[in-house]
Amino acid sequence: MPGALFSLITLKNSSPSEIESFFQSAEKLQQQPGALTGSGRSIALLFFEPSTRTRLSFESAAHRIGCGALVMDVAQGTSLEKGETLEDTILNVAAMKPAALVIRAGDDLDMSLLAQKLSMPIFNAGWGMRGHPTQALLDFLTLRKQWGDLAGKKLLIVGDVKHSRVAASHFELATKLGVEIGLCGPKEFLPQSWLGKSFVRLSEGLQWSDAVMALRFQFERHDKDLVLGREQFRAEYGLNSQSLKDLGEKGWILHPGPVNHGVEIETEVFSDARCLIFEQVEQGVYMREALLRRGLGEQL
Ligand code: CP
Repeated sequence: MPGALFSLITLKNSSPSEIESFFQSAEKLQQQPGALTGSGRSIALLFFEPSTRTRLSFESAAHRIGCGALVMDVAQGTSLEKGETLEDTILNVAAMKPAALVIRAGDDLDMSLLAQKLSMPIFNAGWGMRGHPTQALLDFLTLRKQWGDLAGKKLLIVGDVKHSRVAASHFELATKLGVEIGLCGPKEFLPQSWLGKSFVRLSEGLQWSDAVMALRFQFERHDKDLVLGREQFRAEYGLNSQSLKDLGEKGWILHPGPVNHGVEIETEVFSDARCLIFEQVEQGVYMREALLRRGLGEQL
C-alpha cells in the first residue's frame, strides 16, 4: 500500500523526531550528494510573489535530485493576467502531473484546502504572513551546524515580527527544539499575543541571546500612517558595531533576507565573521532537497 503523501505547509503538526530526521537528511546530503532519482519527473515552482533565495534554492534542489523545474515566476505573462484565479492556475499546473508543487502566495490562497484537493506533495515556500516553514528549518539547521545541540539555546528576533512569516514558523519550531525565543522591536512591530520574553532595549536582548536574527522592515506591509521611520528604526533596532560587542564573541547573526542595508544591519555586521547570512542560503539548498526527496517518496 502506498504511504501517505508528505507535504509541508506548516510545522504545527511535525513531531520533534520528524524534525530531527529533516536535519539529519539535509546534513547527509551536504556531506554526500544523493542519487539522481528524479529522472523524467518535474517539480512545479509556483511563485506568485517575488523571491530570490527560496525559488532558486528549490530549483537548485530539484536539479540535485535530477528533476526538471516548471517555473512560474511572479505570474507575469500567464493567464492570471486574463483573470484566471490563483486556484485554477494551480489546479491546471497540477493536471500536468509534476511530482510536487512548491508554492509561494499571499494569505488569500487557502493552501491547506488546496492540499486536500490534490494528490501530490505541496510545499509552502512562503505563505502571506502565515508561515515559511522551510526557512525556519534551514535557519535552525544553520545554527545546529554551529552549536550541535539546539536545546537550551536563546534566539533573539529583532524587528518587524508582526508581519513576518519567518518568525511565525520560528515560533512553531522553537518550542519543539527546546530553543527559547526573545523578541525586540518597536511595540507596533511585535505581536500583541506574545507571552514570551521581550526586550525594549536591543543591547539587553543581545546580551541575553546566543544568536540574533534580524528581520526585514517590511515597508510594503505597513499603513502609510506608520509613525516610526527608517532612521529611527535604524538607530534603536538596527544591528551595528555596538551590537557586535553586546552580542558577545560566541553569538551568531542571522537574517532570512532580503536585507535592507543600513536599516536592519550595518555593513560591519554584514561582513562580521559571526554573520551566517550566506551560510543560511547554502543550508537552504540541502534542507529543501531533503524535503523534496521525502515528498518524492525517498527514504533518506
Ligand atoms: N528568505 C526568503 O524567503 O527570501 P526570498 O524572498 O528571496 O525567497
